[in-house]
Amino acid sequence: MRIAYLSASGAIGGAERALLDLLASLRAAEPGWEMHLVVLADGPLADAAAALGVTVHRLPLPAALARVGDAGAASRLGLLARLLAATPRGLVWLRNLRRLLRRIDPRIVHTNGFKVHVAGLSALPPRARLVWHAHDFAGTRPVMADVLQRLARRASAAIAVSRAVAEDLRRVCGPRLPIHVVYNAVDLERFAPDGPRADLAALAGMPPASPGAVSVGLVATMGKWKGHRVFIDAISRLPANLPVRAYLVGGGIYATAGSEVDPAELRAMIAERGMAERVGLTGFVAEPADAMRALDVVVHASTQPEPFGLVIAEGMACGRAVVATAAGGAGEIVTDGADALAVPPGDAEALASAIARLARDAGLRARLGAAGRATAERRFDRTRLAAEVAPIYRALAGGR
Ligand code: GLC
Repeated sequence: MRIAYLSASGAIGGAERALLDLLASLRAAEPGWEMHLVVLADGPLADAAAALGVTVHRLPLPAALARVGDAGAASRLGLLARLLAATPRGLVWLRNLRRLLRRIDPRIVHTNGFKVHVAGLSALPPRARLVWHAHDFAGTRPVMADVLQRLARRASAAIAVSRAVAEDLRRVCGPRLPIHVVYNAVDLERFAPDGPRADLAALAGMPPASPGAVSVGLVATMGKWKGHRVFIDAISRLPANLPVRAYLVGGGIYATAGSEVDPAELRAMIAERGMAERVGLTGFVAEPADAMRALDVVVHASTQPEPFGLVIAEGMACGRAVVATAAGGAGEIVTDGADALAVPPGDAEALASAIARLARDAGLRARLGAAGRATAERRFDRTRLAAEVAPIYRALAGGR
């Protein structure tokens, strides 16, 4: 079996973390398989994949194309045309991708995001089958939905990270595309209750929190839908005498123009509300498990339905109390009151009361943390990934 994976992002966000876990799981289960990763941007993903024994090929997208995305797009021009054929450099790049894939000669091309779903199809070698790994909703993105719908018949299968993502893709692509739900998983040894803890106060440039303060953190990229403002708003609603120290943990990773919040605006919001001593921004942290272990409460606050919500599974695996907006796939991975607390998206008041409840009740935090770890061990052990994905590849490779 020879597989070529394609990633537009070279940074490690949720979709790339999930890809690394899949690669690690397959490497352990199928040591004889040859795995290649073609990565379209610089960043830590390439080295992380190489460390797993994956052959990495760097094929940077021309900068102007890397910024093109549908996230902030006003026009409804076909993304395919804009992405690949808009410029002579785009065409040259596509020809190079075609050549590279022919050289690798994979049986499966596995694409890990919208841009590469499109690019992978345009450059698919004749003998290869295409598998789309869907980490996001297409239905809410008109340009993308339009393009995927037109291309769907040429993909052989899709993997969706939750039922919600599968249903969305089904609506966009119609009944002919086989869609398999494979929930993401985590490295349960890395995301474990015991281990090093990051000094979040120092990272945020704040004095240490007062002894006994409960630390609460939103762990997220700077994506616009991750709920940074709702989180800050929720913290501002907490009683002033409740000993809570809050952190926004994470940094920007997306090249696409217009898809991220500006940390300076978040700092301004914190300052306006007079909370500079209560809320800080740590910026990007290389080891999220260390950051989670430094927290008592891990918050997920996405304002839109979350395709999966890897941080929820990671927070649970670290044995921390998790608060999550349980819409979309996130709603499929938590059981409110049993292994996490669920709040409605965009509801600062509900988030504030969940945080206040946890801040006041160490017993509840401990119970949710232990139940979360048990859920993670049962449902999110990454050895499951190879067991679920390898048969999909085999069926496609055998069925030509
Ligand atoms: C994307 C989704 C997120 C998911 C991750 C891994 O980043 O937005 O919900 O957890 O991919 O599948």
